[in-house]
Amino acid sequence: MIRHTLSFRFADDADRAARESVLDELRTFPDRYPAMRGFVLGENISTRDRTFTHTMAVDFDGQDDLLAYLGSESHERFVRTRWRPVIAQQAITSFEFTERAPLLEGRNPPVSTRPHGPYGMEYARIEVPDMQETIDFLQYHVGLQLEQRTDEYAYLRADIEHHAIELIHSPARTDGWTTAVGFSVASEEILEQLHKNVLDAGLEVLELQERQRALCDNGFAVKDPNGLVVELFTEFQEYAEPPHIEIRPLDLVHPFIATAKFEETLDFYQHVLRFLPSDHVVGSTTFLRCEDRYHHSLAVQKNTEHYVAHLCFAMKSLDHVMRMRARALYKGAPIASDIVNHSASTSIAFYMHDTRFGPRYELCDDHRVFTPEEHETHRPRRMPADPRNIDVWRPASDDWGRF
Ligand SMILES: [Fe+2]
Repeated sequence: MIRHTLSFRFADDADRAARESVLDELRTFPDRYPAMRGFVLGENISTRDRTFTHTMAVDFDGQDDLLAYLGSESHERFVRTRWRPVIAQQAITSFEFTERAPLLEGRNPPVSTRPHGPYGMEYARIEVPDMQETIDFLQYHVGLQLEQRTDEYAYLRADIEHHAIELIHSPARTDGWTTAVGFSVASEEILEQLHKNVLDAGLEVLELQERQRALCDNGFAVKDPNGLVVELFTEFQEYAEPPHIEIRPLDLVHPFIATAKFEETLDFYQHVLRFLPSDHVVGSTTFLRCEDRYHHSLAVQKNTEHYVAHLCFAMKSLDHVMRMRARALYKGAPIASDIVNHSASTSIAFYMHDTRFGPRYELCDDHRVFTPEEHETHRPRRMPADPRNIDVWRPASDDWGRF
């Protein structure tokens, strides 16, 4: 391993905002340079030597990775335009070292000093032309439980969380349309940091939907580059017990978002909302994760238009996935993509789609959850856009037909 350290002192005339902005940008480096391991950045608290105000230390697997980072165009541009104007003095060291073997099995996971993102997905809000038919579909074919219903809206839940789907009665629509997605945040501190990131990015901070305000402690909303509302909040209300339904989802895992603004959308979720990239199908789809460590709590797909393409629910077992598939076949519910074995998330799933009810519904088993250690150290794979990299059960590189 190579450890690379950088100690520095800001120029006296660099104001607080300029300093914070540069420090914030440094904190995005582990996301921007996936070869970085064990990134730390802190203020100098030494009483012996106050020459430098801060030190940053990052590890790389080897000298090549370090040199690739230092020589990259984006790093050189950062040094030229952002760094030099505000830094008075710096010192750099790089040295080789060997990681100490763990002293005990089951040692604590690495302490994370990176900025945290949301905890995980909680719900989607979908406008539908026929609420009763949608409720019937979600109860029978997805296994959700209806908890509350008025003429205007309905809440359905999967497990103890207050709801996984909120339906809005919209008779003017012919197809269902997802207007918002909700993500819980683990603490007020993280929520505050995300709020600050949104403001720093020059985006408008919106209020939570009024009903949602009563279902959590604190939160705000922001529109992603496609206009999809993302609601972020702490302490989402939950029930004492899960529904007494044997075949039901355990969790709503992710939305899959198609977008004509691929780079902009990725930048928003990765650098403003601090989702972590897990894998890329190059030029097609990027999978991003939250702090609940599911392989992805969000997928972003390059497309010619924006829509929420599917919502993924995790079932208790493959047996339950297959029982739901049997129900779909029995009732003639349209199966948009039959049993697939996803390479990215190692899950086995099928998809149903009736456009009246909103996006596709993916029911899966065994969605990968990273260990705490993997969550801090995982390096996203860059996989070519080949159907076998999306479903490992595809027989050939041109077998796109069944997606
Ligand atoms: Fe999915």
